[in-house]
Amino acid sequence: MDTTWTRRDFLSATALAAGASAGSAAVASAAQSSPAGKPKKIVGICCSPRKGKTTAAALRTCLEAVRAELPGAETELIELAGMKIPGGPAAGVPLEAGEKDDFPALIPRLADPKVAGIVIATPVYFGNMSYLCKAFLDRCMVFFKDRSLANKVAGVIAVGGARNGGQELTVRSVQVALMSQQMIVVGDAPPSGHWGGTVWSGIEGGVEKDDFGLATARNLGRRVAGVAKLLYAD
Ligand SMILES: Cc1cc2nc3c(=O)[nH]c(=O)nc-3n(C[C@H](O)[C@H](O)[C@H](O)COP(=O)(O)O)c2cc1C
Repeated sequence: MDTTWTRRDFLSATALAAGASAGSAAVASAAQSSPAGKPKKIVGICCSPRKGKTTAAALRTCLEAVRAELPGAETELIELAGMKIPGGPAAGVPLEAGEKDDFPALIPRLADPKVAGIVIATPVYFGNMSYLCKAFLDRCMVFFKDRSLANKVAGVIAVGGARNGGQELTVRSVQVALMSQQMIVVGDAPPSGHWGGTVWSGIEGGVEKDDFGLATARNLGRRVAGVAKLLYAD
């Protein structure tokens, strides 16, 4: 399985995607670690601008299931809330003077060879992903050329205020971006067995009461862990 990369690939991807931004240094430093060992870490990215709310709760449930399914697995939940992730550098538009950019610090955490899989969780905003999620995925252009996300397992969770508020559309929309990165995109494992986590935060009593939706998040965690095990088992 080709999960290797070269320093040259990293640097050319950086030039394409991040221009002269601080991203260059972070990618170059990630490139220096070699993809050795058996990756067993699953990273969850929470793309809600509201820290610790319903999307984070669904993602936490998913990562708990990962740990239960894959003994010894390490999980990390990264909340993008409060971070500044401008989209411009993905298209070669430089940062404005003094503009803050928290994306470069995420690069080594995602490209880390120890990372076997990534779960993206986003709230549904008008039937699609949040602006933070879109900016994050666009900035992942930095990984596109060097394929440093290739062959990592990927799953998606969408949390909406309505039962049928566009969760499936949102999951699909994020999945397409992840497929473009050559990631191995999976849905939720049976018995729910569809396209990912589809969670309803508007239910009476709050997201914790959405047994059906949280089961899809849990089953997604089981599936991500199961495929990571198939790909990278000792
Ligand atoms: C701008 C905006 C648009 C939204 N659009 C939808 C929508 O199309 N469908 C839906 O079910 N919920 C929609 N919601 C509700 C959020 O998806 C829902 O409250 C979600 O649980 C928020 O996640 P959070 O608690 O992690 O911030 C929208 C919320 C906002 C702020």
